[in-house]
Amino acid sequence: MARRRGRESRNHGCVASAQRRAALVERNLQCLAGVHRNMTPALRTQPAGDAGVDVRPAATSGTFLLGGDLPVHRLGFGAMRLTGNGIWREPNDIPEAIAVLRRALELGVNLIDTADSYGPEVSERLIAEALYPYPAGLVIATKAGLERPGPDQWRPNGRPEHLRAACEGSLRRLKLERIDLYQLHRIDPEVPFADQIGTFKRLREEGKIRHIGLSEVSVADIERARKIVPIVSVQNRYSPTDRQHEKVLDHCEREHMAFLPWYPLGAGAALRRRGPLAKVAARLSATPAQVALAWLLRRSPVMLPIPGTSRVEHLEENVAAALLELSTRDFEEIARAS
Ligand SMILES: NC(=O)c1ccc[n+]([C@@H]2O[C@H](COP(=O)([O-])OP(=O)(O)OC[C@H]3O[C@@H](n4cnc5c(N)ncnc54)[C@H](OP(=O)(O)O)[C@@H]3O)[C@@H](O)[C@H]2O)c1
Repeated sequence: MARRRGRESRNHGCVASAQRRAALVERNLQCLAGVHRNMTPALRTQPAGDAGVDVRPAATSGTFLLGGDLPVHRLGFGAMRLTGNGIWREPNDIPEAIAVLRRALELGVNLIDTADSYGPEVSERLIAEALYPYPAGLVIATKAGLERPGPDQWRPNGRPEHLRAACEGSLRRLKLERIDLYQLHRIDPEVPFADQIGTFKRLREEGKIRHIGLSEVSVADIERARKIVPIVSVQNRYSPTDRQHEKVLDHCEREHMAFLPWYPLGAGAALRRRGPLAKVAARLSATPAQVALAWLLRRSPVMLPIPGTSRVEHLEENVAAALLELSTRDFEEIARAS
């Protein structure tokens, strides 16, 4: 069922034959049938199929080696939406938030993105409550460098003492001895860059974090940071309809760094618009969210989308996107429109 995406699929040529296109639509219909007919248990949740291959939907998105040594399935999950309104305090429906996290793992997701500031602290606490003791192979990526003084308010704080305390807090809340991927949430313009990256470097030397990532950065920022310490990932805002960070994505692809697009669904708004996502979705009998995620997975082999949701129903719909294959024509139609 799994097909190769990224470079390979982008080289298929410009026009898919009518026959191949019809076969694709048929295949997609079969793969997504469970989602559209409210038969989501039909999504495979067992790790190994008959041939010993992981056939869970998220595994079908392919595997990326973070930092060259930490395998994750490319379609991950963003845990910011498991908080209250304005990413503030507890969510309205805590059992549903816990169910979302557990269902994500059943569907093969093994990369969860969070941050100390989501809630604050709420998202990390819920992850531990739902999933600890963690199964082997689960990678929890968290972040530091943004404070939350109130709902919808974000304030950079890159002071070394703050970053260090944030790391200790995340280790404690997540019940981890080492954070697999620790990301600098924002570069703080008020603090020397080398002090911020230098703190992450020291945390890594002390064994508190394994790999380091950056968020909302330029190519120049990435290269400045890499002079100090290896950087394995970049998390910038990006979606099929919001592609201002193309240069950063291309840079990550060249340098084999993961690119985690945040707002991969345009925070939900992109799904409600009448546009190419809706058009292609209607053609493929899929949903706009699935088309957006399938487009991202095809855009680059280093792309690790982390769509967020507070609802199991949306989670299942989103993870099933790993089973959706876009033709070159559909891919390009969406690319041209954005
Ligand atoms: N590095 C950064 O600065 C930064 C900033 C923001 C976010 N992030 C990370 O990126 C992750 C993803 O971003 P995000 O969660 O803000 O935005 P997103 O994934 O683009 O969209 C999430 C929104 O879309 C809705 N949604 C999800 N699936 C849907 C579906 N199938 N149909 C209809 N609506 C759907 C969700 O509502 P429901 O809850 O109702 O499903 C939610 O409001 C976050 O969770 C977080 O981990 C990082």
